[in-house]
Amino acid sequence: MKNTISDFRSDTVTKPSKEMLDAMNKAPIGDDVLGDDPTVKRLERIAAEMFGMEAGLFCPSGTMTNQIAINVHCRPGEELICSPLSHIYNYEGGGVAFNSGVQIRTGGDDFGRIFPDDINRLIQPEIDVHAAQSRLVVVENTSNKGGGTCLGIPLLKDLGLTARSNGLNYHLDGARVFNAIIRDNESPEDYHFFDSISICLSKGLGAPVGSLLIGGKDFISQGKRVRKRFGGGMRQSGYLAAAGIYALQNNIDRLSLDHDLAQRVFAYLSKLEYISEIKPVESNIILFKVKSSISTLDLSNHLLSKNILIILMDKEWMRIVTHLDIKEKDIQVLFEGLSTFS
Ligand SMILES: Cc1ncc(COP(=O)(O)O)c(C=O)c1O
Repeated sequence: MKNTISDFRSDTVTKPSKEMLDAMNKAPIGDDVLGDDPTVKRLERIAAEMFGMEAGLFCPSGTMTNQIAINVHCRPGEELICSPLSHIYNYEGGGVAFNSGVQIRTGGDDFGRIFPDDINRLIQPEIDVHAAQSRLVVVENTSNKGGGTCLGIPLLKDLGLTARSNGLNYHLDGARVFNAIIRDNESPEDYHFFDSISICLSKGLGAPVGSLLIGGKDFISQGKRVRKRFGGGMRQSGYLAAAGIYALQNNIDRLSLDHDLAQRVFAYLSKLEYISEIKPVESNIILFKVKSSISTLDLSNHLLSKNILIILMDKEWMRIVTHLDIKEKDIQVLFEGLSTFS
């Protein structure tokens, strides 16, 4: 029998289901750069309305939606404030500096949260000509490198008020915002106080490609120009947008199943003697460390020999992610793999 891989590296590894592929196949399409694709327009409208925003912009990736937002909100030489664990700071190839000439100031805790006090401390005095002008606060919900932390609406709202009262714009990297919404029993409309939101369709929601930037009409029309400049204008992208519509209509509520599996993985790891630390598990991401006498590479190679893939986040932290394509049998294979490591 052919060995199958249990792929716990990321929720981006999912393959579109037959139903999603059928929806893609049936989609009416047109040239979206010329404004002709009805399915893209429909997806943009659905996403914007969900979050109580005026407009949406379909883009190839979450990196692009974040980068477009930063480019529209800030001018070269200005500064944004975010967690040192943020995706925009760690994993977007220095794009904040490269694409927009913006610099980053960081603060917050080890779980990817940032607090109003951090913003008040980090914000640059407007009258000081030596300082870069603070322009934007970016938060990530859930926080990937924080361990899938859900920041919660009360904190997000407080941060928004702090940003606004200091004249700063406020962007959400919501690559996994639906995980937070499901886990904290929120509604997308609770997020209306952001100036802009990036959501990803190709993570927990199982679409093969695509992210949306949503916000006000003017913001999105400026974003459309930047998308073109960044090379992100797509033509018959209605096929991809159809996958996104299917994802938004069918794959949000089931995220709780991924969270339940993540809790079981957390409980299993907690019993293993060679594990030294696990970040609290709040959604579908489990970050853990092994004892210093153990090599992370040895553990991941051992798991690989059992057809299990996990990811090394850095020299210390390892990551397991549950998602749409992780089934009970994969969990059993993972537990077996973890228990036979010595
Ligand atoms: C929190 C977060 N933001 C943004 C992104 C970027 O998304 P993409 O891979 O579609 O560029 C990721 C990707 O994993 C992410 O985890």
